[in-house]
Amino acid sequence: MLLALATMPFLFAFAQQDGQKQKEPMCEEVFANIKVFKGVPSSDLIPSMQFMAASLKMECEDCHDPKDYSADNRTKDTARQMILMQRDINAKNFNNRTEVTCMTCHRGAEHPMGVAMPEGLSLRHKRFEGALRPEQYFANHVKAVGEDSKILVRTGTLTAPNDATHKVESKPLEFIQASGGKFLLSAGDRKIGSDGSTTWYGAMAMFGEPVAVFQRIGRTWRGNDDFAGLSNTAVSGQDTVGKTPVVAVRGQRASTTSTEDLSFDTKTGLLLRATNLKRSTLGTVVSTVDYSNYKGVDGIKVPMKVVVTFADGQQWIMDFKTAKVDAKVSDDVFKKPGN
Ligand code: HEC
Ligand code: HEC
Repeated sequence: MLLALATMPFLFAFAQQDGQKQKEPMCEEVFANIKVFKGVPSSDLIPSMQFMAASLKMECEDCHDPKDYSADNRTKDTARQMILMQRDINAKNFNNRTEVTCMTCHRGAEHPMGVAMPEGLSLRHKRFEGALRPEQYFANHVKAVGEDSKILVRTGTLTAPNDATHKVESKPLEFIQASGGKFLLSAGDRKIGSDGSTTWYGAMAMFGEPVAVFQRIGRTWRGNDDFAGLSNTAVSGQDTVGKTPVVAVRGQRASTTSTEDLSFDTKTGLLLRATNLKRSTLGTVVSTVDYSNYKGVDGIKVPMKVVVTFADGQQWIMDFKTAKVDAKVSDDVFKKPGN
């Protein structure tokens, strides 16, 4: 609506000019300050403006001074560069067809998403005054959940795509976690574990990035090395997870060569979301682990729901019904079967 109204005076101007001239004038003949639309018929300018505004969900005034549309500014200059880039990409790669456009990249946002990540996730958090030091947020969480020496056993269901058929299915789940990165996740035929050094899936030892993914899922976040493994930590801002206000702390994890963005409940101090940003030469891949329904169990606090969301949107949803601390679990359960 706003867009249509703002455009009206210009359309009106065209109607008058079209009546007077036989041949259509070029943009530079009609408008005062044309650099990149030189040689383009003047009737193309306003639809092009509307296209840019729609692709970036911007108003005309976001790029223009409403009193003087010919006045230059930084945003307008950036838009000029983008127009040249778009033409260049299409000339070099698509035989001059209009295949790549503002919309291809921007999709309604001023800052296009250059990373592969689940929908709705935000990586830019609002800066704020009076943030604590990063270590303080880690310490508050650890204090809220309780000590890490205890072995935690939870049972419930895992809802996730089947490895072979990719159909989402629910299976009974047992999840055992001990300090030092040891865990065992058993759901139906699926068995994944780590003894702290070897991480395995079924009978296979895992290598490379998959190890990091499952170590992430197996992480207890209870005062052990999980936070100590982060370096260059900094508070990245305020945000919400669902409706809950959080403070996000970011740090680098050398062991996985990735960046982690940890969201702590502003009120309770509990970790609600661990976002992982893994760089590749083509772009960054983002996944999250969400923790909710924290419940008191034998002196520690335990999330009864854990949701892992991968970059492509696939989810592993763990709904726990029981949780207990069990000191008697043998270390052998964390070892790769067949060892
Ligand atoms: C993303 C930024 C952006 C948005 C949004 C935008 N414009 Fe523009 N506009 C430009 C740029 C860049 C130019 C200069 C083009 C050139 O240099 O050839 C321009 C030029 C113009 C001109 C020519 C001004 C002159 O006399 O030199 C008019 C008129 C205009 N825009 C109208 C609009 C209207 C109406 C809208 C809303 C529908 C709009 N623009 C939205 C970037 C934008
Ligand atoms: C190939 C992808 C791509 C295309 C096509 C593209 N852009 Fe961009 N644009 C970007 C990237 C990447 C940035 C930098 C984003 C950032 O700073 O977060 C950007 C930044 C901008 C900005 C500055 C945003 C800011 O506030 O700093 C403007 C304005 C803009 N683009 C307009 C356009 C317009 C108009 C078009 C179409 C003519 C266009 N872009 C086409 C990728 C693209």
